Amino acid sequence: MKLVVLTGAGISAESGLRTFRGNNGLWENEKIEDVATPEGYYRDKARVRNFYNSLRVGLPNYKPNAAHFALAKLEERLGDDFLLVTQNVDDLHERAGSKRVLHMHGALKQLRCEANESHVFNFDGEETAETKCPFCGAPTRPHIVWFGEIPLYMDKIENALLHTKEFAYIGTSSVVYPAAGFKQLAKHYKAHVTCLNLEVDREDRNTDAFLEGKASEVVPTWCENFK
Ligand code: OAD
Repeated sequence: MKLVVLTGAGISAESGLRTFRGNNGLWENEKIEDVATPEGYYRDKARVRNFYNSLRVGLPNYKPNAAHFALAKLEERLGDDFLLVTQNVDDLHERAGSKRVLHMHGALKQLRCEANESHVFNFDGEETAETKCPFCGAPTRPHIVWFGEIPLYMDKIENALLHTKEFAYIGTSSVVYPAAGFKQLAKHYKAHVTCLNLEVDREDRNTDAFLEGKASEVVPTWCENFK
């Protein structure tokens, strides 16, 4: 494995999607415990469903930007030597052409069964109390990893981090674990670690190189120069 890339909300910011933290972040208007925890969901399912419905239905209004396209092009060049791990639940990487992408926090355009978590299916439009799992008929829930739940694909991701020569993280505040710990893990396994972000912490001892700037500007150049 030559390269594992982790992306966060910052890569989609210039496409118009709000990030979670910072000015006008999603978590400024919504309480995490209301819409991003299992407890919040079981307290008020309709509210949580509507929150994710509105994000899902809004997706076509946003288009991938130069950073998404650059990663898709780099993947074409590296093939199976490349893995994209995203914390984002939007579909902008796929719409830019990325194929080897793992949505570790789930995906807006999927739902899963409330009774059996392995029943995951593609879904467009608005989920309601009447939406049923196509595999077993049980009620459904958004396919989103909430706080307190275990992120998806962790075995695959850790195995890739164990073998990769380079790890890069793009547009993430690196405060939500386990994703925030990937740079440390990669470094421990001897990868070279690069941070591409609007703001960087040059004191970070788990990062070897820093590219400060907007994703649409720094990511394409970095991808083109990647050897
Ligand atoms: P955050 O909102 O925490 O952080 C976004 C990061 O992107 C910040 O470090 C910004 O400085 C940076 N940024 C903003 N605009 C940028 C731009 N144009 N170019 C480059 N960087 C930019 O988002 P995440 O780190 O993705 O989880 O948040 C992690 C998780 O917390 C999310 O996946 C979500 C949230 O709660 C779940 O919902 C499970």
